[in-house]
Amino acid sequence: MEKVLIIGAGGQIGTELVLALRKLKGNNNVVAGDLSDKCPDKLSGGPYVKMDVLDREAVRSYVIDNGIKQVYLLAALLSATAEKNPAFAWKLNMEGLFTILDLAKEGYLSKVFWPSSIAVFGPTTPVDKTPQLTITEPTTVYGISKLAGERWCEYYAKNYGVDVRSIRYPGLISHTSLPGGGTTDYAVDIFYKAKTGEDFTCFLKKDTALPMMYMEDAIRATIELMETKSENIKIRSSYNLAGISFSPEVIANEIMKLKSDFKINYAPDFRQAIADTWPNSIDDTAAKLDWGWSERFSLEELVKVMMDNVDITLVNLNN
Ligand code: NAD
Ligand code: SER
Repeated sequence: MEKVLIIGAGGQIGTELVLALRKLKGNNNVVAGDLSDKCPDKLSGGPYVKMDVLDREAVRSYVIDNGIKQVYLLAALLSATAEKNPAFAWKLNMEGLFTILDLAKEGYLSKVFWPSSIAVFGPTTPVDKTPQLTITEPTTVYGISKLAGERWCEYYAKNYGVDVRSIRYPGLISHTSLPGGGTTDYAVDIFYKAKTGEDFTCFLKKDTALPMMYMEDAIRATIELMETKSENIKIRSSYNLAGISFSPEVIANEIMKLKSDFKINYAPDFRQAIADTWPNSIDDTAAKLDWGWSERFSLEELVKVMMDNVDITLVNLNN
């Protein structure tokens, strides 16, 4: 069993990905790495390492000395946070990627996973059923870093034979850990308010439709992509995944079916301008054809599982 390292393991995706990979590969074969000194409680069932992905030499030594063969690189600044500190976002989102791609190029790693995003699209992209290959002119630093990362992944795959795999995740919705500063975070926050019986003020307009996905589908997609045979992967930049598309008004109406007194109001902020540049919906035919992708969660199922499982104590615990 190849040893796996997940960098950025304490975040929204990492927390669930570590647990899923440990189930598949055994606790001791999956190392969680993140900035904090202490291992997050949810990840304490297996090895943890304090790691700053910007410390290139420390990352290299850890990977080489510990015989790590696969890396999932999740450490990044997301869209909203990145706009507040563009220079640092560019540094974090790009430097860690080169460190990991170089380790793979030198033969230390057999496989790399690096996530891209719907943020690679921009205001000139067709907004409905956005194709795999289309205009990509992102206007956020986050989107620019993801697009550049995609180009570098393809470059390392074509020129150095690096087995790097990637998904353009839609906005991800989960209840195990909180989201980390994205434009799609409202679609998680809304459940905490609904559960506590408070009104929800949405930072996007009511009719802003975006592609979203329940985390269980996203984790399954990630593992299916990483476990498929290399020859199935025809796209080495990043695969579109569609998920489910909805606006704040649509998800609020779905919540009201379970909680009739739930109320939403709208106060768009700077994140509206980011959302306005992203697609309404995505075409993921390539992922379906190449590695057999198929999503499971509908909007109705997503809302039910979130309403059943959101843990309101998380808000205080993670703050
Ligand atoms: P997150 O913000 O929840 O988690 C990121 C983690 O990285 C955090 O635990 C943070 O402590 C860690 N980190 C930050 N700087 C680090 C550093 N220098 N060294 C090591 N660790 C560091 O993010 P997430 O939502 O889990 O996203 C993970 C990846 O998936 C990112 O690349 C993001 O762009 C991408 N993505 C996420 C979504 C989404 O909706 N969550 C959608 C599209 C793409
Ligand atoms: N959910 C992410 C964000 O909003 C999309 O990459 O930043």
